[in-house]
Parts: sequence; structure tokens; C-alpha cells
Amino acid sequence: MIEVENLHKKFGKNAVLTGLSLKVEGGGIYAVLGPNGSGKTTLIKSILGMVVPDQGLIRVNGQPTHRKWKYREELSYLPQIANFPGNLSVSELLDMIVDLRRQPARQQELIAEFGLEPFLNKKLSNLSGGTRQKVNLALTFMFDSPVYILDEPTNGLDPASLIRLKERIRLEQSRGKLFLVTTHIMQFVEELADEVIYLLEGKIYFKGTLEALRQRTGQNDVEHAIAAISTQEPNA
Ligand SMILES: Nc1ncnc2c1ncn2[C@@H]1O[C@H](COP(=O)(O)OP(=O)(O)O)[C@@H](O)[C@H]1O
Ligand SMILES: [Mg+2]
Repeated sequence: MIEVENLHKKFGKNAVLTGLSLKVEGGGIYAVLGPNGSGKTTLIKSILGMVVPDQGLIRVNGQPTHRKWKYREELSYLPQIANFPGNLSVSELLDMIVDLRRQPARQQELIAEFGLEPFLNKKLSNLSGGTRQKVNLALTFMFDSPVYILDEPTNGLDPASLIRLKERIRLEQSRGKLFLVTTHIMQFVEELADEVIYLLEGKIYFKGTLEALRQRTGQNDVEHAIAAISTQEPNA
């Protein structure tokens, strides 16, 4: 479970999070949505301890995260922008991360799942954006964790890989895992999300099921419903 209470974060004069509170629980897939620059990545990085909030409290599985690091072993994180060392090959990178994490890894399973065999000996700097994203996904799902935080996992993926990603998320969900996922692909949200969390102006503007979102906006189509939220009064 992740609980966020009254989170504030400014970058200089730019107040990005202004009193954001949130509670999400295991077994749920939560889609974190909001316009570009609304603070989705900042929220995620705050939970991971990569951004230090100015104010507020974050708990992961009941424990406050401030100045702690052990809890991060329970979080698997897919960064929006992966900075891989370009001179390594795919297999060198995977082996290196497996060595560092010292946890059981489903390496072969994920290599097969995302069709990475033909790329194992290629240098990361020579891969296309979509293939890099598959490497990024394989790294994230190689390790078993109770919480998966995915920042724009659909970026650059071809349809076959997108299907594999959705299958993997559903599989892990059936094992009780918690997912926080940002994406701009509404079909992805519609197929997977138990709840939508919509960020606007530094706060959560809407949190609820797609059904609640449809009712609230009077829009049946999710894309239109999302677009319509920000024209209404906030509920949270
Ligand atoms: N490290 C940083 N330094 C300065 N400004 C930042 C930093 N990270 C994010 N921002 C700013 O915070 C705002 C929210 O960014 P971000 O959380 O990345 O939004 P989103 O992921 O929703 O697109 C943007 O205006 C961005 O420019
Ligand atoms: Mg972002």
C-alpha cells in the first residue's frame, strides 16, 4: 500500500505539487493521468525517494519513506527516460543488473517475452527507441516486487509488445501486485485500469473508477471523459 499525505514540491518558483494526497492498495492498477507537466513524474519520483518533497508524508506498506532506502527494494520502477550506458550490450546490461540486485531474476522469461533475443549482443546505443523500451520493461519485470511503478511504459512500443506488456501487468495483478502507471494511451487505461488518478494544478482532481468518471462527466468515451474532467469541479 502507498499513502501520500499533503505532498508539496516546488522547483524554484514552480509549485508542481501543492498538497497532494493519495492512497492506493495492492491488487489494483491505478492509471496516473494529467496534462504534460502536471507533476506525474514528480509524484512518482517522490514516492521512490528520487525527489525530496518540501512538505508531506509518504508511507509504503505502512512505513514512512523519509530518509529511508530499504523500502525501495519493494518497488520496481520503470523510468520515463532510461539512461542506459550506450557501450554495453543488452545481455551485459541485464547481467549487470541481475548481479547488482542479488535477487532471483526471471531473465530468460522476460527476454523471450519482449522478443529481445536478436538484440542481446547489440550495443544499447545502437538500439531503436522502441527496442530500448523493451529492454527497460524486461529489466523492470525481471524482479518480483509487491509494487510496480511504470512511467509511460507504452512509449514507442509496437502493437505486439504492447499486448505482451498488458498480459504481464494482468499476470502480476492477479498475484496481488500494486501498479501505478502513467500513460497517454487511453485504450490502455480502458483495458487495464481499476482506477484513474487525474493530476491537475498540483493536486488530485479526480480519483475513481472509469465508471465513476463516465457518470461524472456524462461522457461514455474515456478519451472524452478525461478531456472533460478538467472543466469540472475537483472532488479530491
Ligand atoms: N528536476 C527538476 N528541476 C526543475 N523543474 C522540474 C524538475 N523536474 C520537473 N520539473 C518541472 O516540474 C513540472 C512537472 O514535471 P513532471 O513531474 O515531469 O510532469 P509530468 O510527468 O506530469 O509531465 C514541469 O513544469 C517540469 O518542468
Ligand atoms: Mg512525466
